[in-house]
Amino acid sequence: MRVRKAVIPAAGLGTRVLPATKAIPKEMLPLADKPTIQYVIEEAVNSGVEHIIIVTSRTKRAIEDHFDESPELAAALAKKGDQRKLDMLRRIEEMAQISFTRQPAPRGLGHAILMARDLVGDEPFGVLLGDDLVVNDERPCLRQLMDVHERDGGCVIAALDVPREQTRLYGVFDLEPGPGPDPRTHRVRDLVEKPAPDAAPSNLAVIGRYVLTPDIFAALERTAPGAGGEIQLTDGIRTLIGTEPIFAHEFTGTRYDTGDPVSYLTTSLAFALRRPDLAPGVKAFLRSLPPLDETELD
Ligand code: UTP
Repeated sequence: MRVRKAVIPAAGLGTRVLPATKAIPKEMLPLADKPTIQYVIEEAVNSGVEHIIIVTSRTKRAIEDHFDESPELAAALAKKGDQRKLDMLRRIEEMAQISFTRQPAPRGLGHAILMARDLVGDEPFGVLLGDDLVVNDERPCLRQLMDVHERDGGCVIAALDVPREQTRLYGVFDLEPGPGPDPRTHRVRDLVEKPAPDAAPSNLAVIGRYVLTPDIFAALERTAPGAGGEIQLTDGIRTLIGTEPIFAHEFTGTRYDTGDPVSYLTTSLAFALRRPDLAPGVKAFLRSLPPLDETELD
């Protein structure tokens, strides 16, 4: 079945990047000069999604304002005759059909997805987490998962090949033996949360892109709070294993993390270097830096 909708959960507290996120939503922190959530919405739109549902919470109003019309700003730009920036504003405001729903308290990613139940209805939908950005200018990551779902049905989760010593940082796929429906798509037997390298069933890690069937909602309602007292999306998906196909799809593209200060900074730098208008200045600055003295790094 065709995927028309996508959910972006954005109701987390963002504690790893405090104090930046005390009053500003994590999703509004810019990478180069654009809020993170705008890249995520662009990925959904470029994947063919028609309706985007953002799950927010208190202190997240800036997300709604960003995608709303801004008459004062538009008037000021019109007075200055800055048509380029006026066009940019219009592109943001007309990017997609966006609905907002609230999660009353941060009870976990699974609980956030449940909040979108009525807006999604009885159809498959994409999920994009703003902590993960995937760059693929030809075929966005979500589009790749949508193609698998539209061909094979079931739930499809983006899989990243990680070095074995990093399995502790991720949910890791336990795969069915034997070939999957195509060389990059594998049937999932189980999901293991943050396994030690010697206990990890594979090197393929879950990242924040999914296509889920509406069956996930009933599964999440039955899911008891797990790690940290939160309703985990992974636990909900695990209860679907055996009742419908769950696929891990090794997407093509470059994945960037933004959820902690170091990854946020390095991702911001990488995104600035991808921009023809910003890259020369950033490169000049990097070239001007004295060579790093290893002893100073300790
Ligand atoms: P994270 O755990 O990575 O984000 O959740 P967080 O909770 O905001 O950040 P830290 O760990 O405190 O630094 C992954 C995604 O799920 C959303 C978050 O907004 C993030 O996009 N989320 C998480 C919710 O919407 N609600 C929740 O209750 C938890």
